Amino acid sequence: MKNRILVIGAGGQIGSELIMELCRIFGNDSVVAADIKPGAGTDCPFETLDVMNGKAMLDIIKKYNIREVYLLAALLSATAEKFPDKAWQLNMEGLFHVLNLAKEKIIDKIFWPSSIAVFGFNTPKQNTPQFTVMEPSTVYGISKQAGERWCEYYYRRYNVDVRSLRYPGLIGYRSAPGGGTTDYAVHIFHEAIAKGSYECFLKEDTVLPMMYMEDAIRATLTLMQEDAGRVKIRSAYNLAAISFSPRQIADEIKKHIPGFKITYKTDSRQEIAESWPQSIDDSYAREHWGWKHKYDLKAMTADMLTNIKALHSPVTVK
Ligand code: SER
Repeated sequence: MKNRILVIGAGGQIGSELIMELCRIFGNDSVVAADIKPGAGTDCPFETLDVMNGKAMLDIIKKYNIREVYLLAALLSATAEKFPDKAWQLNMEGLFHVLNLAKEKIIDKIFWPSSIAVFGFNTPKQNTPQFTVMEPSTVYGISKQAGERWCEYYYRRYNVDVRSLRYPGLIGYRSAPGGGTTDYAVHIFHEAIAKGSYECFLKEDTVLPMMYMEDAIRATLTLMQEDAGRVKIRSAYNLAAISFSPRQIADEIKKHIPGFKITYKTDSRQEIAESWPQSIDDSYAREHWGWKHKYDLKAMTADMLTNIKALHSPVTVK
């Protein structure tokens, strides 16, 4: 039977985009989508899977001869603060199931995402280095930092080929994020088009590291296709593209939608945002496997607006 790739969390913000790209590169027959919510819209086979259920995961892996797993199922920062126990269990147990499958040589390769949330209040905020103080203050961040340590441990101790990126806030037009602190940077585009205004849950000058989804998917696939010997960091690589505040992105949107209005009403996500870096030094990713981002704030804004409008506009029949 041919080897296949499994994406767990295929219905999520990253998964739904990654699965399209994997299908395009390797073919629909080489990719399997799994998610706890049934029926993620893909052209490849789909399986409903709760990531906590190791037996069900193993069954899928055997059924399709899966050799490579992208484990994207997780509770994000804001949701995890509401359900700390559940978030810790879900974010860690899924990872252990996958790491152990690789330890037992049932699968060969793993991608697992980390995040800027591994950093905390005592981390340098500008050009945050790869190796620095890491004292995450959120359950999500704690789970990502612990996960990174386990990834590196499984690599050193059991030679498990696991690869990871510390994603910044990700912005794409195809799918909405859920329960994250950087979500405003996606919502703002949809509301700018639908209503011409947006109420932001972060303060206007809160700068965070961000990245356009196309760049994030390319980074992920480049890292996964790199020779194992060049992937020298086995915790997770810092990864960066752009940094901006709500005011800066609103100003960029106004260049396209002149009447656009942004107002501010902060909630608990403000404190999470303030615990994270404002910009990231990703020179190891650039040196080790040639990472280079394409989209700046201007290019990303133009692309987001064009594509959201295109997705929403009715089809004209000639
Ligand atoms: N985008 C995520 C969040 O806001 C961080 O990894 O929770």
